Amino acid sequence: MPSKTVFSDARAVAEALTPSYPVYCLDLAGLAAHTQAFVEAFPGRVLYAMKCNPYPKIVDTLYEAGVRHFDTASLPEIAQVREAHRDTEAYYMNPVKSRAVIRTAYEVYGVRHFVVDHQSELDKTLEATGGDGIVVHVRLKTDETKVSFDLASKFGAPFDEAVDLLASVHRDGLRCGLAFHVGSQCRTAQAYRDALALCARVIDKSGVNIGYLDVGGGFPAYYPGQVIAPLREYFQAISDELETMHLRNDTVLMCEPGRALVADCCSLLTQVLLRKENSIYINDGIYGSLSELVLTRMELPMRVVRLDGSVSTQTRQFDVYGPTCDSTDILPDQCALPDDIREGDWIEIGQLGAYSNSAATRFNGFSTETFVEVQSVFR
Ligand SMILES: Cc1ncc(COP(=O)(O)O)c(C=O)c1O
Repeated sequence: MPSKTVFSDARAVAEALTPSYPVYCLDLAGLAAHTQAFVEAFPGRVLYAMKCNPYPKIVDTLYEAGVRHFDTASLPEIAQVREAHRDTEAYYMNPVKSRAVIRTAYEVYGVRHFVVDHQSELDKTLEATGGDGIVVHVRLKTDETKVSFDLASKFGAPFDEAVDLLASVHRDGLRCGLAFHVGSQCRTAQAYRDALALCARVIDKSGVNIGYLDVGGGFPAYYPGQVIAPLREYFQAISDELETMHLRNDTVLMCEPGRALVADCCSLLTQVLLRKENSIYINDGIYGSLSELVLTRMELPMRVVRLDGSVSTQTRQFDVYGPTCDSTDILPDQCALPDDIREGDWIEIGQLGAYSNSAATRFNGFSTETFVEVQSVFR
């Protein structure tokens, strides 16, 4: 078998491929080390949120780093992970599903964990599976504070409904869990404390002693300009709050991180197609790998790669347009880049492992398909 190519960094990729197409650069060794540290430090079961980045080599790396549980939102995600690694468990944590996919997930892929946030979904889950051996997690709506991406306006039962739903799951003789998601890129551990305090009240009022407690995703990655506490402070906050709850000894604590695991293992090498005064046009944009920026307005680290000389140390603010014909294909905020940036330069954009390839469209025929491995990415 030919040995695989691992470039030293994005500059080496530019030298070897001179790519006129965008390229994802993956630091898989960094991902493995980071994942192992997360799995060891979190005081419970770690489910990787497939939606964040389902690229097969990323999933394989997470598996090799010890992840065996996967938060999935669709049948294709379930099939991907269960067929690639038979000793994994997929959890169906999308609160709205069709009967057909619930049945297929249950019968074909052995899925036993389902989330609901409404009585109708609970009825549907029971009918589609027959209920044998399943765990039903009730998704609770929590307050969203200091998050970059809201996840509570669409899903989650409000307090009283969650109490009734949990009681209903219990009455049906099913194993019960409680789940929440504080919102993505959560910048304060207090959000987990508050959400767990709310869970404690739901448990007390419903009188149901749950077997599973799922604190969701939302753990942050480290983007420029954001002050974020180390992850261990988030884990400590969760452990401290758990101490105050009267849970069964065998209650399983779970989390569903996406961004915190994969954001910093990938950068994007994109090329400048044209410069017009204070605007540049690059070959990826908000319909592609950069779609999340429109909602999160996150700042991303950028550095210019030029092969035939050095770039100016002076910077100026540029409007950065993507490759499609749509006028809205522009990054929501201007970017500080070298003032002599020109056609043919590459820009390595860091921190793009989360919600980049997984959220990209093929609008105008553009899509980023090339992935290479590197020893280090810019972040
Ligand atoms: C149910 C669920 N779990 C986990 C995640 C992963 O969240 P994050 O990437 O913020 O960790 C999401 C993100 O949308 C989600 O909807």
